[in-house]
Amino acid sequence: VGYVGPNADGKALDVVMEGLARLEYRGYDSAGVALVTTDGVSSEKRAGKLVNLQSALDAETLPGATTGIGHTRWATHGGPTDQNAHPHRAGDGGRLALIHNGIIENFHSLKKGLLAEGVTFESETDTEVAAHLVARAYAETGDLTEAMKAVVNTLEGAFTLLAVHADSPGVVVGARRNSPLVVGLGEGENFLGSDVAAFIGHTRQALELGQDQIVTITTDGYTVINFDGTPAEGKPYEVTWDAAAAEKGGYATFMEKEIHDQPHAVGDTLLGRTDSDGRLVLDDMSITEDQLKDVDRIIIVACGTAAYAGMVAKYAIEHWTRIPVEVSLAHEFRYSDPIASERTLVVSISQSGETMDTLMAVKHARELGALTLSICNTHGSTIPRESDAVLYTHAGPEIAVASTKAFLAQITACYVLGLYLAQLRGGTFADDAQSVMKELHEIPAKLEELLGRMDRVKEIARFMADTRSVLFLGRNVGYPVAMEGALKLKELAYIHAEGFAAGELKHGPIALIDAGQPVFIVVPGPGTPHELHKKVVSNIQEIRARGARTIVVAEDGDEDVVPFADEVIRVPATSPLLAPLLTVVPLQVFALHLSTAKGLDVDQPRNLAKSVTVE
Ligand code: G6P
Repeated sequence: VGYVGPNADGKALDVVMEGLARLEYRGYDSAGVALVTTDGVSSEKRAGKLVNLQSALDAETLPGATTGIGHTRWATHGGPTDQNAHPHRAGDGGRLALIHNGIIENFHSLKKGLLAEGVTFESETDTEVAAHLVARAYAETGDLTEAMKAVVNTLEGAFTLLAVHADSPGVVVGARRNSPLVVGLGEGENFLGSDVAAFIGHTRQALELGQDQIVTITTDGYTVINFDGTPAEGKPYEVTWDAAAAEKGGYATFMEKEIHDQPHAVGDTLLGRTDSDGRLVLDDMSITEDQLKDVDRIIIVACGTAAYAGMVAKYAIEHWTRIPVEVSLAHEFRYSDPIASERTLVVSISQSGETMDTLMAVKHARELGALTLSICNTHGSTIPRESDAVLYTHAGPEIAVASTKAFLAQITACYVLGLYLAQLRGGTFADDAQSVMKELHEIPAKLEELLGRMDRVKEIARFMADTRSVLFLGRNVGYPVAMEGALKLKELAYIHAEGFAAGELKHGPIALIDAGQPVFIVVPGPGTPHELHKKVVSNIQEIRARGARTIVVAEDGDEDVVPFADEVIRVPATSPLLAPLLTVVPLQVFALHLSTAKGLDVDQPRNLAKSVTVE
């Protein structure tokens, strides 16, 4: 967070701390602030969550200041200690303070040079190198923007840097390469943030920066230049949600609120998708219909939960369009010497639009000549900007680190994409698309109803607080749902959990089953083709016979599962390919309540961060 405001009230600390509270989900290993006053720079930083910094600040009086920067950290170089927390001070008596996201890959060689000059280091971070370099450049130029420009051109890797200097009160300079930074435009005050949540309590007017740009904010304006010094212009936009959307709204945790936001996340992602002729439309498209008609292969790249959305999409898009779809973890795609041509559509899925692994996969796909389409929840973020086309999900801000509503919105957007491609293919493909779309529009109401019947799931979660291992099984679209159920449990409750394709069980994992082993089984509806329903019911019997405790997620009215289930969790019926939008919900609620029963931090689980902007 960066802030410059009016002289009269000197409220920089409050604004920066409020911004950090809203951004804490991005990293919470340590936190720190630096303020500039006419007397110089004062700073404070602490390992651990923001509350540790707040206690330290409560115990002292920092001066009222008009200019400030603040940071919450997800550690990469150097452990989460007070020393390694940002800001880092440098220059004569620490007159410069600097914060950083990302990784400076050539910091070793730069540090060697600085050590040789006699510079002493107080931390193990790559960031401190940048702080010393900017301080040195400032001593030569006397201008913070010029100093930043001189330094960024010597850095390799990905970074967002913000700097303030005691001799430049009223100025914050930021720079970005492959890492997010947005500007908030207020009246007589301006803001910088890793995302708009940092300043949403103050302004909804934002400015998107391009790659390799430097921004300088003061009370009455801003300037943007490219790393080569040429003038540049940011792209102004208005944030469509307000501060309330990024608050808990009466729920105990963000995750619980976001689970309840899901009917809207799906409904809003479906909104406005048809033109006056009833044809489906996507968002920002610079790919022509002819190019899309020519697509003969789709590769989905994503990480974590988003990759599971991609796996659901594979089943649906292949079925609706007969175009082969491959799903690749973004970090594996980039370095696997992948095959792609101008007839390949590479679809990236990312809530944040900033996941570095996914961004690098998209860039590589473009280098290979593929068409790139981004499914993303964050307006103006890097991945959509680097893609040929965008389909925005409208889940609203997702703050809890473990993804829920973004997952449902991603699946929904993937369905829309699949149906859009089916429409382009014409004929029976297009007819089917119309009827699926109709069913999709019924999902929000079904979700609403489903959320109203989660009491038993909560009870089961409470009973299972001491469980050490949980397995999840599913077939077809239920398979990625099983893996997502397992991921939620790992992330939130730190319990060993694994999701398997139910058919694979007999080929090995069944050896894990012994008396009392809890197993969730996601059962496809009885209407699922290829008798899959029956096969999954047989799989339930196989594990029950070996002592497993079976917790079955099944459609309303599916009586076949009852004899073999220790628990049946009911979900409303829908067509088989759309079922993940419903079947995953009890698994999310289960993980949330198990985590709560264990007394863990639901919104900010250990070791994780929401946007992982390093590779
Ligand atoms: C991190 C988060 C996950 C998320 C993944 C992908 O690992 O902890 O919850 O699924 O990143 O994030 P993205 O923003 O690209 O969807």
